[in-house]
Amino acid sequence: MNRFLSACFKKPVDRPPVWVMRQAGRYLPEYRQVREKAGDFLTLCRTPELAAEVSLQPVRRFGLDAAIVFSDILTPLVPLGVELEFSPAPHIANPIRDAADVSRLTIPEPWSGTEFLDETLERVRSELESETALIGFCGAPWTLASYLVEGTTSRSFTKIKGFALSQPDAFEDLLDRLADAMAAYLRRQVEHGAQVLQIFDSWLGTLGAEDAPRWALAPATRLLEQLADLVVPRIYFANGGSHLIDMLGDVPCEVIGVDWRTRLDEAAARLPDHAVQGNLDPGILMGPPEIIERRTQAMLAKAPRSGYIANLGHGITPDVPVDHMAAFVRTVQEFRYDRD
Ligand code: CP3
Repeated sequence: MNRFLSACFKKPVDRPPVWVMRQAGRYLPEYRQVREKAGDFLTLCRTPELAAEVSLQPVRRFGLDAAIVFSDILTPLVPLGVELEFSPAPHIANPIRDAADVSRLTIPEPWSGTEFLDETLERVRSELESETALIGFCGAPWTLASYLVEGTTSRSFTKIKGFALSQPDAFEDLLDRLADAMAAYLRRQVEHGAQVLQIFDSWLGTLGAEDAPRWALAPATRLLEQLADLVVPRIYFANGGSHLIDMLGDVPCEVIGVDWRTRLDEAAARLPDHAVQGNLDPGILMGPPEIIERRTQAMLAKAPRSGYIANLGHGITPDVPVDHMAAFVRTVQEFRYDRD
């Protein structure tokens, strides 16, 4: 078992494995080159040869412990009938407004419509060494629902909360459909080479302790439970979830991803049955490399001794200089657990 999988299952490792959310992206000049060649972002996602290339770029450059397959959390909504565009922010032409809209979201059975990803996964897996894990992913039901109802990235989340409160049955139906669709989609990713699965709940932090359990954690649990028979570890990225930390212990997965507002030592102490992943503030990568090294070392000092995956607390931003990303990764790679 490689370092990444061992850490997910809380087995001993020489140092923490490291990867970075959104590691394949615009901060890399070689990504921008391929992106230009592809034309638009969705074409890049749907062209396995190019998508595989950009998935591999950060692994080649930094020697990361995992590759994440290149796609987007919103692309698997297209097979459900969603009209999606990126510019670069996502826009949905037919947002969900009522129960009739929800009932039109039909899950292909068996799952289909993302065949390009099958080939991308296979291509990436065949290029990776056995030491490097391949991560498949999807968005969590609450996060996906927010895009479907708001139509784009929201600031206030008023449309989705209005929908959830005034049409609770339709909203529950929406969450159930998204959970079931994503479970089928992730299972298919495992069939084509994914060895780890991450569920991005990027907008969990918009919910208070009253609503997060029913609108985010319950549908994420429904999704994750459907994957329990697979041997692959499951990571639930609970962005903005520090106020919910005790509730996260009930989420059926191997790893909880935490953002930088969460105290890593406290998260590990309160989640004794899970491995944890995170959590340097991505903004720290804008500072000089000496500071990045110091802050990364401080993060590692707070991290648990077993069951830990080093990462940022959210995705890397497009303006980060490449050598700053290198400083972060190198600091983790040079770290060693004391042998005792
Ligand atoms: O490297 C990787 O992590 C793999 C690829 C990946 C992308 N999106 C590529 C992408 C992954 C894992 C995602 C997940 C994703 N997409 C999330 C969850 C992660 C998070 O950051 O919380 C979310 C919320 C989305 C939705 C999304 N996709 C938005 C809001 C945007 C616009 C971003 C912006 O900066 O304007 C996208 C587009 C997108 N997805 C890009 C990339 C590389 C930029 C598109 C481009 O190249 O023009």
